[in-house]
Amino acid sequence: MIEKARESWTSRLGFILAAAGSAVGLGNIWRFPYVAGMNGGSAFIVVYFFIALVVGLSIMVAEFTLGRYTKLSAVGAFKSISKRWTFAGFLGFLTAFIIMGFYPVVGGWTLAYAFKSVTGLLRNAETLRDAFGKFITSPVEPIFWLALFLAFNVIIVARGISKGIELANKILMPSLLLLLLAIGLRSWTLPGASGGLEFLFKPDFSKINGNVLLAALGQAFFSLSLGMGCMITYGSYLKKEENIPASAFVVTAMDTLIAILAGLVIFPAVFAFGVEPATGPGLVFIVVPQVFAKLGVFGPLFSLLFFLALFVAALTSSISLLEVAAAYFIDQKGWNRKKAVLVSSAIMFFMSILSSLSLGVLSGFTILGVGFFDLFDLLSDKVFLTVGGLLVAIFVTWVVKKENIHMEVTNNGTVKFPFALWYNLVKYVIPVLIGIITVTGIISAHQ
Ligand code: PFF
Repeated sequence: MIEKARESWTSRLGFILAAAGSAVGLGNIWRFPYVAGMNGGSAFIVVYFFIALVVGLSIMVAEFTLGRYTKLSAVGAFKSISKRWTFAGFLGFLTAFIIMGFYPVVGGWTLAYAFKSVTGLLRNAETLRDAFGKFITSPVEPIFWLALFLAFNVIIVARGISKGIELANKILMPSLLLLLLAIGLRSWTLPGASGGLEFLFKPDFSKINGNVLLAALGQAFFSLSLGMGCMITYGSYLKKEENIPASAFVVTAMDTLIAILAGLVIFPAVFAFGVEPATGPGLVFIVVPQVFAKLGVFGPLFSLLFFLALFVAALTSSISLLEVAAAYFIDQKGWNRKKAVLVSSAIMFFMSILSSLSLGVLSGFTILGVGFFDLFDLLSDKVFLTVGGLLVAIFVTWVVKKENIHMEVTNNGTVKFPFALWYNLVKYVIPVLIGIITVTGIISAHQ
């Protein structure tokens, strides 16, 4: 392969914000609360914490290390070490498309709701549930918004790493945090909010079964952007002197904190308004406007801010997914960035249209009993990401030479890091754990 000068992040902060930007997304604010709600609340959250910190963090270190070691994105990283493992990288590339087959649909909803917030959505709090159902099943309106959402992605990713992805994250990530805090303050002061805190923090461990474990594992991989080569790709743009374990820790901690923050914003409101916590994907879109509808003149403004925050979070994640797809064409096929971005996003657009329509006019068309939207969601978090995470763990510890990994992860021995502990976790414990969780998850799904 011809060695080209590879783009890199311009600063440590830039990299961390980009990686955190990828991790923090719809997975934290839209998905985490409803998945937690559907899996019993706090017991799920305890399991989630454990998995994110033990499994997630370790795999993230492995992905960054593999990316920086090979200086290649997902497919090339595997292929350059072992041709037989090319499939593992390719699986990641496919997963990027599967996730981007539904992610932009929800990204479009956030834009639409930002707009609707200030154009009369909140006038009638009682009809918010119906309004959401009507909107997402319509054949035209959501497609307009998802196209707009994808257009933002194309513009940013086409500009490249430092001038596109890094710059966008530096502006967007701090804005997100501020917006969430502002909305949290409102939610916590609602009468009846304490039920939500109980739901979040009083674990009932009898609720834990194989299904809950698998949901937590899938959610952790999804939320941390692991198991599909994204963090390998971001790691490949990382400079040699950066501290990989410390960066991975900061990213994991930020992602977990924002998921909790999102839970703390949503659940008090869910309980204050008597909404069912297991409402599913509509949870955030139904509950949040309800909170703000009761807020008088400032309601629309807060609602606008919230959905803008959600849009920002979604955008900094979806650009990383688009980057994984585009990087494959750039690194492996020698395409220029523009062409790679346009072709990838055109495929994603087509898949997202199918997803969006599957909630309405195409709802009768199902594969394995579900429509496209649910299929892409299910395939990504319950199958592809878990398998991908397992493959990364095995590859980094059983295929790549231990000494090379040791040198890369510790910057030739200069970074303090409990290498043996991490290595054995990734080599033995995590593969077994993923295996057990997947099997018990499948069994309990069939009970
Ligand atoms: N981590 C993102 C989220 O929580 O919304 C979703 C995601 C981005 C998953 C990038 C996987 C990925 F490679």
